[in-house]
Parts: sequence; structure tokens; C-alpha cells
Amino acid sequence: MLDQIFDDCKKQLIAALKNKKHAFRFFTLATQKLDGNTNLRTVVLRDFDPEQMSFTIFTDARSKKVMELNKNEHIQFLFYDPTLMIQLLVNAKVKKISYETSIYKALPDSNKIDYSSIQIPGSNIKNPDEIVHDFSNGHFTKIKFQSLSLEYLRLKRPNHIRAIFNSYDSWRGQFLAP
Ligand SMILES: Cc1cc2nc3c(=O)[nH]c(=O)nc-3n(C[C@H](O)[C@H](O)[C@H](O)COP(=O)(O)O)c2cc1C
Repeated sequence: MLDQIFDDCKKQLIAALKNKKHAFRFFTLATQKLDGNTNLRTVVLRDFDPEQMSFTIFTDARSKKVMELNKNEHIQFLFYDPTLMIQLLVNAKVKKISYETSIYKALPDSNKIDYSSIQIPGSNIKNPDEIVHDFSNGHFTKIKFQSLSLEYLRLKRPNHIRAIFNSYDSWRGQFLAP
């Protein structure tokens, strides 16, 4: 049964790459702030490799998260499916931060917008209309994370199901009291 749960998690993460309405397409990324506190934000799942258990996101190289990841490579992801009431909590670390211009160049302008504002993400502006983009000079960044553990929780009657899968244990899995 543990194998089945782990396989299903992987299947759902793969499904989220294709299905834009899948609950796991958007998830929460937690990084450690420079003062030791936590920063949370929503991101899009851009790739998931079930063999390597690696996750990929895209971002702007100038965003705070990149600075924080360069200081502390350990992060958490939170995925939640409200229909099935399934929560996945993934502990991971940065595998690679790459500034891939080929992916950026292939994006339509409507997507390049997310990585090419002249104003630095998070900087003060007077009005949303004042943002200007320079598509020729994007700050597109791909971040690949290597998972260390995945904790599954499904709320259901009569028994909630909670299990932990660790990479050091070859992802074998162990049920936990919910
Ligand atoms: C639905 C949704 C999807 C988002 N997807 C991404 C994403 O894939 N990558 C990203 O860098 N920011 C994404 N954001 C914006 C982040 O949540 C965050 O506001 C931004 O990246 C700045 O974060 P930081 O200052 O902590 O680095 C998304 C926001 C929303 C609401």
C-alpha cells in the first residue's frame, strides 16, 4: 500500500505538468530568510522527474527567493489537493540554478513579461502601469530541486492516512500516526 501511495503521488505530480487545472500545478515554496525566519510564495510546477524525484520552477534571477536559495539551499514545498484532501510536504535542496537563455528566447512575449521588467521584483513603484519590459534582456532562471523526503497526508474516514518517504531509505515509506 505504501508503494501505491508513493506511485500515486508521482502520477499526480506528472499530471500537474500537463493539466493546467490540476491542484498540484501551483504550490507553496518556503525558503529561509536571511534573518532566519521563513518566506512563503506560490510558484508553478514546471517539471517533475519521478526517477530523480526532482522538481523544477522558473523565476526571475533578481527575486528574493534566488538570493535566499544562494544562502540556504534547503527548502520546503507544500502541495494541496482540496478535492481529495491530500497534502504533500516535500523537503528538498537546490540541485541547480541555471540561467537558460534558450528557454527564455523560446517563450512567447506574454510569458517573457514575467522575467523581463526593468524594475527589480519587489521594488517600490507608484503605479502598476509604470512597469516597463525589456524582452531582449530577460532575467529568466530555472531552479531544479532535489527532494530529500516527501510526507503524504490524506484526510478521509474512517482513517486518515499519513506516510513519510525518505530518499536515504530509497523512498521505501513508513506510515505515521496522523
Ligand atoms: C498563481 C501564482 C503563480 C506564481 N508562479 C510563480 C512562479 O512560477 N515563479 C515565480 O518566481 N513566482 C511566481 N509567482 C509569484 C510568487 O508567488 C512571488 O510573489 C514572487 O516570485 C516573488 O517572490 P520572492 O520575492 O519571495 O522571491 C506566482 C504567484 C501566483 C499568485
